[in-house]
Amino acid sequence: MRMLRFLGFIVAMGVAGATVGGSLIQRAPARAAEKRNPFDGDGKAKRAGAKLYARECASCHGMNRGGRRNTPPLNQPEVQKADSGTLFWVLRNGSLHRGMPSFAHLPEAQRWQIVTFLKAPTSE
Ligand code: HEC
Repeated sequence: MRMLRFLGFIVAMGVAGATVGGSLIQRAPARAAEKRNPFDGDGKAKRAGAKLYARECASCHGMNRGGRRNTPPLNQPEVQKADSGTLFWVLRNGSLHRGMPSFAHLPEAQRWQIVTFLKAPTSE
């Protein structure tokens, strides 16, 4: 009986941990979504973003955006369907304690180009 209660405790801790954490996208403040991407759907910006991605992000998230070890994949619906402003917030703030750097040092236009690339379908 005591063993069962102990197991229940472990399971509850696991569930609580997962809820408190959430993905970085889920942790972005709601108001971040209000920012508009000046390059929304712009093919040229997407190509520029792809080059920036290869240079700045691929070492951790993988060339094909498939993720690596503790780094989440970016070729998934949660990322593609996220609001541009939310992705922009993620790039501005990073998640320093969990290993995602801030990209605030890049010019804003370049960060929006990366966002445009992230939101485009992976097959294109
Ligand atoms: C040094 C390794 C590293 C680099 C470089 C890096 N990231 Fe990350 N990234 C991470 C880690 C680790 C996380 C998970 C952070 C967390 O959960 O708090 C993450 C999370 C993210 C997320 C949130 C994913 C989700 O499901 O919530 C996005 C979007 C993202 N990165 C985009 C990028 C982009 C775009 C670049 C390049 C400009 C980049 N990252 C560069 C390590 C990296």
